[in-house]
Amino acid sequence: SKLVGLVGWRGMVGSVLMDRMTQEKDFDLIEPLFFSTSNAGGKAPTQAKNETTLQDAFDIEQLKRCDIILTAQGGDYTNEVYPKLRAAGWNGHWIDAASALRMEKNAVIVLDPVNMPVIKNALANGGKDWIGGNCTVSCMLMGVGALYKAGLVEWMSTQTYQAASGGGAQHMRELLTQYGTLNAEVKALLDDPKSAILEIDRKVIAKQRSLSGAETANFGVPLGGSLIPWIDKDLGNGMSKEEWKGMAETNKILGQGEGFNTAAVPVDGFCVRVGAMRCHSQALTFKLKKDVPVADIEAMIAADNEWVKVVPNTREATLKDLTPVAVTGTMTIPVGRIRKLAMGPEYVGAFTIGDQLLWGAAEPLRRMLRILLD
Ligand code: HSE
Repeated sequence: SKLVGLVGWRGMVGSVLMDRMTQEKDFDLIEPLFFSTSNAGGKAPTQAKNETTLQDAFDIEQLKRCDIILTAQGGDYTNEVYPKLRAAGWNGHWIDAASALRMEKNAVIVLDPVNMPVIKNALANGGKDWIGGNCTVSCMLMGVGALYKAGLVEWMSTQTYQAASGGGAQHMRELLTQYGTLNAEVKALLDDPKSAILEIDRKVIAKQRSLSGAETANFGVPLGGSLIPWIDKDLGNGMSKEEWKGMAETNKILGQGEGFNTAAVPVDGFCVRVGAMRCHSQALTFKLKKDVPVADIEAMIAADNEWVKVVPNTREATLKDLTPVAVTGTMTIPVGRIRKLAMGPEYVGAFTIGDQLLWGAAEPLRRMLRILLD
């Protein structure tokens, strides 16, 4: 069986990836070779077969042995190792969770339920670089990809509600620590049903504003009980990098826009960090190219793939099925709140949620591995 190098398997995305690969018995089909950036020579995890020693993740000779390398180690690692490995003549398949290579001409952003034709075409043309997409974009396309595939979208605006997990493990811890600090600040008042809510409110805002640098080290400002309408770098043109990715990656995944024969669909909006743990949610506004009945839109979305689930646009169904708490840890991509908007019959709104670590990160990678093994 193929020798598959695994790098960054201990981190948050890597751990979710390992769990999914174990669940889906991917390890039955490969000979895994585990790498480490810090513990070379140590013992590989239980999924190892013949290669039971951890190899140095910077050892080009060891990496070169692999038919396929699957990394969730991060962009700095990719930037350092990938060019050296290719320069050393390695011709294997590189599957990567990091964004470093995403927009490279020869790289495909993999999300096979949405862009299998793009993947197949690249494979036929000798493609070797398979990169996971931005989590928000991948989850959005798993939900409403049907409308893009049908060529119905004139433009889309997205307003995101992104979970702490998108920042990383430390960000999740920081959010919970902040919630705990705020709760502790007013615990006595909360326990007394007769206490004044405005006093609680005053104490909470005072505490949020005086949180120590250590308590906001990852997000920069308090997130617990607040939100942050900026994610990733400032591109200097008024956009955050996360917002830029929305249009760039959506179109690249679909095989349109720059470098392809079809024009890009405009995608734009605001990306916002909220105090959710690991599900990215987004409110979508579509301008469709024509007036399509809501029932038809729902039917198209529901039929697109086996994970998307249309949630009826009622209060009851929304509260039950369309929250980060309902979706976390599941492969389901609910799409709800589907309705025509007041601007006109071509304007459609929807709300969708996806687990940032599953469809948003790990799942497209392990599925690409399966495609290469087929
Ligand atoms: N950039 C995303 C976020 C995570 O910060 O939520 C990875 O795609």
